[in-house]
Amino acid sequence: MTGKEKNMSPALYDSFIADYYDESPIVRQRTQDVAFYRDAVRECGDPVLELGCGTGRVTMALAQMGKRVTGLDLSERMLEHAARKRAALNKEERERFHLVQGDMTKFDLGEKFQLIIIPFRPFQHLLEVRDQVACLERVRKHLRPGGRLILDVFQTDAERMHDPIHMREAPLVEYRSHDGKHVRISERVAAFHRAEQRNDVEMIYTVEHPNGRKERLVFAWPLRYFFRYEVEHLLARCGFRVAAEYGDFDRTPIRDNSPEMIFVAEPGW
Ligand SMILES: C[S@@+](CC[C@H](N)C(=O)[O-])C[C@H]1O[C@@H](n2cnc3c(N)ncnc32)[C@H](O)[C@@H]1O
Repeated sequence: MTGKEKNMSPALYDSFIADYYDESPIVRQRTQDVAFYRDAVRECGDPVLELGCGTGRVTMALAQMGKRVTGLDLSERMLEHAARKRAALNKEERERFHLVQGDMTKFDLGEKFQLIIIPFRPFQHLLEVRDQVACLERVRKHLRPGGRLILDVFQTDAERMHDPIHMREAPLVEYRSHDGKHVRISERVAAFHRAEQRNDVEMIYTVEHPNGRKERLVFAWPLRYFFRYEVEHLLARCGFRVAAEYGDFDRTPIRDNSPEMIFVAEPGW
């Protein structure tokens, strides 16, 4: 790993979640976005920067295409998983693949990129407008002429902004891990903060270990939700033009029931 910032305090994902992330069916089932980002790299070219790269789920797929890729993330523990995957690449692929510990609102990598991507919700960890603006300004500074940003967030379901039914723990999936743990994942909203466009969310892991020991692990975090025109305005405010927007990774338009809002943006207004 290169470019590791010293004295950073533990990040939200520096917890059990880093070790459960890759095996979770919720993450494993997410293959359409990887195919979408592969196509985007074919269209836009490299080098690519992924902000909030986590365990390298997307970055690895791009590195395996022979592309020059940098993954940046705040969480040391998520990056440790990415580093292990990087170590399994061949020498040429490894030389083109860099991992950096850093904050997507503050980074300065001394390099410009053809494509910058923010897949699977890192931007929704930026609760304040000033952090969102800081991130987009950093992105602009790191783009080459003709370069592009692709940002995906989920489209907000209005019921999830207020309906108390979502405060009840709801089962999502269960699975057996490679080392024999039986894991059940459920979720609940602990609190709604409509004025701040944020829910306090809990993802609850009920784990039964092979020796019979049981534990309940809770990943709790504040999740910012966005609206379509808010993101368009935010991008415009930060000097981006929206080149395309999609409601899912199959490139269908944003409709009432679209799960995603994917913005392809380029500098210039
Ligand atoms: C849901 S994971 C997504 C990981 C990866 N992009 C993927 O698609 O699997 C969100 C990631 O965003 C990272 N993150 C959150 N806030 C961040 C920040 N301010 N700067 C950099 N990374 C951040 C977290 O550490 C976490 O790894």
